[in-house]
Amino acid sequence: MERKEFLRNLGAGAAFALIFPCVHGCSKDEESGEIKPVPDGVDFTIDLNSAEGAKLANNGDFVLKNLVVVAKNLEGAYVAASQICSHESYDQVRFIEDDGGIFRCNVHGSRFAQNGTPLNQVDSKTAKPLKIFKTELTGTMLRIFE
Ligand code: FES
Repeated sequence: MERKEFLRNLGAGAAFALIFPCVHGCSKDEESGEIKPVPDGVDFTIDLNSAEGAKLANNGDFVLKNLVVVAKNLEGAYVAASQICSHESYDQVRFIEDDGGIFRCNVHGSRFAQNGTPLNQVDSKTAKPLKIFKTELTGTMLRIFE
């Protein structure tokens, strides 16, 4: 059976699923090629007094947790965004100090404002907004949630 015939027999929906298994909701790990889901239902905390929280001591610092980039921006506020880039779903979004503090993916250079707005067009597939999460500080407990 030829490929075309096989796909026709399979039906359009199944063929689409086989050919484009990850249009939305997946990410590529640049090093391992592992597929990871876009963060959803996010709700976790970081104790700022813990070793993990100590990595957020200075403005401009960030940590990666649960596919979320949690950053202390240049004004000292906590911001959080998806580690999964909205351009081609690589998990390479980080916080950088350029332009007053932005999120950036180094795979193709997408840049995002702290509210997730794309700041550049890296190719004809303009990046969609980056998923942003809420943060709430209670004592030393930083909550990151949707
Ligand atoms: S995947 Fe992030 S810029 Fe392309």
